[in-house]
Amino acid sequence: MLMTGSSGFIGAAVMARLIARGHRLRCTTRGGGGADADGVEFVRLDLQDALTHEMWQRHLDDIDVVINCAGIFEERDGQTFSVVHERAPKALFEASARARVRRVVQLSALGADDQAVSAFHLSKRAADTHLAALPVASHILYPSLVYGQAGDSAALFRRLAALPVLMLPGGGRQQVQPVHLDDVAEAVVCAAEADSGGCRRVALVGPRAVTVAGLLASLRRGMGFRRPAFVGALPTWLERPAVALGARLTGFPLGADALSMLDRGSTADPAPFIALLGHPPRSVESFVSPSERSAERALALLHWLLLLLRLSIAALWIWTAVVSLGVYPVDASLALLARVGAEGLFAHLLLYGAAASDLALGVLTLTLPAAMRRPLWATQIALIVFYSVVITVALPEFWLHPFGPLSKNLPLLASLVLLLLIDTPTPRRPATWTTRH
Ligand SMILES: NC(=O)c1ccc[n+]([C@@H]2O[C@H](COP(=O)([O-])OP(=O)(O)OC[C@H]3O[C@@H](n4cnc5c(N)ncnc54)[C@H](OP(=O)(O)O)[C@@H]3O)[C@@H](O)[C@H]2O)c1
Repeated sequence: MLMTGSSGFIGAAVMARLIARGHRLRCTTRGGGGADADGVEFVRLDLQDALTHEMWQRHLDDIDVVINCAGIFEERDGQTFSVVHERAPKALFEASARARVRRVVQLSALGADDQAVSAFHLSKRAADTHLAALPVASHILYPSLVYGQAGDSAALFRRLAALPVLMLPGGGRQQVQPVHLDDVAEAVVCAAEADSGGCRRVALVGPRAVTVAGLLASLRRGMGFRRPAFVGALPTWLERPAVALGARLTGFPLGADALSMLDRGSTADPAPFIALLGHPPRSVESFVSPSERSAERALALLHWLLLLLRLSIAALWIWTAVVSLGVYPVDASLALLARVGAEGLFAHLLLYGAAASDLALGVLTLTLPAAMRRPLWATQIALIVFYSVVITVALPEFWLHPFGPLSKNLPLLASLVLLLLIDTPTPRRPATWTTRH
């Protein structure tokens, strides 16, 4: 079998199942994938360079089934929907038909239908329509929102579900029908092993539709929270800015498209999916398994606690700068500096230089993306240790002050060490996937 997208969230799960069932795979990946092993051969191939059927032909020797799990959720880094979802898959499907491949399995997306309006769905639909017209047996699968423990959207939903108060667009009354990754991967394998002719289209959806608020409530219960959250409706004028801010804070591709898709509703009849699987898919109530409950709850809460910690540390630096710039009498600040040996112009430079660096640290703490924050935490630790040592030597009475101006640095340092160690973006999954993982 030939597979694209084997390093992806869905592709990796499909690949593991195909290997477990003894299939031999040729996986095209951008990153190289890893060492060939256990019946898996990796071929380095970027879909952007595979836009003609000739480009695919050489990879289809001895291939009986083609599975396309590659895709993108937003256009960035030079990747476009038109190329990744439409032109490259069309070329692959054409090559498959010419090479007399037994069947093609295409992972499309729920909503890539006649009512599609987003560039994402339109590009998917164009490739699906092309495949359906070719003389090759095919399954076109339309997953709804896919929930898997390691998925980005699942993490986002669990984090939202952990909040005690939620203000959602439309009060979260939009209908969705999320499907578990295990069922999606199983469906792809069933489709790849099927022997039906023609083109079959199957929506991969959960057993029943739920509202967004209902999904979050189920995840909340699944994580062991006893009290339900209060869910309110965002004012309509705030919906788009709030979603844009959410996208910026989470790095998750939420946008106007996502909102209009939600408003349209994302549901379908599960019967064809149940027939393909031979059993009903998992319902949202069982998405968080009991063995994952404590860990998922802790991770979801930790996300918000880290955010709270970061915001409070930013506020501390910014407020310290404001106070040093004049809220606290400058003469009193200069008197303190005199006791550490700084006087005259040097003392002024030190006072305003320190205030500027505090302000810069506060602003960077608020704005730097997670991937760039490690040096920031290290700098803050070094600076606080330095300040504490200087004050201990020159103004030791601050250790004996009842408000604890210096001793409060101890929990602050511990918090910064915590941030240094765990405030990093979590890789969704290994950049390359080998059969040994
Ligand atoms: N996850 C969902 O909830 C969901 C719902 C509906 C439909 N779908 C569809 O299902 C498919 C897979 O989704 P996913 O969640 O597994 O996505 P994903 O985790 O982002 O994985 C996408 C895969 O596509 C590959 N890819 C992207 N651009 C490529 C290029 N130019 N050349 C070669 N490979 C490329 C990626 O390879 P690299 O490792 O090289 O980036 C990766 O293996 C997509 O088509 C998506 O639209 C997903």
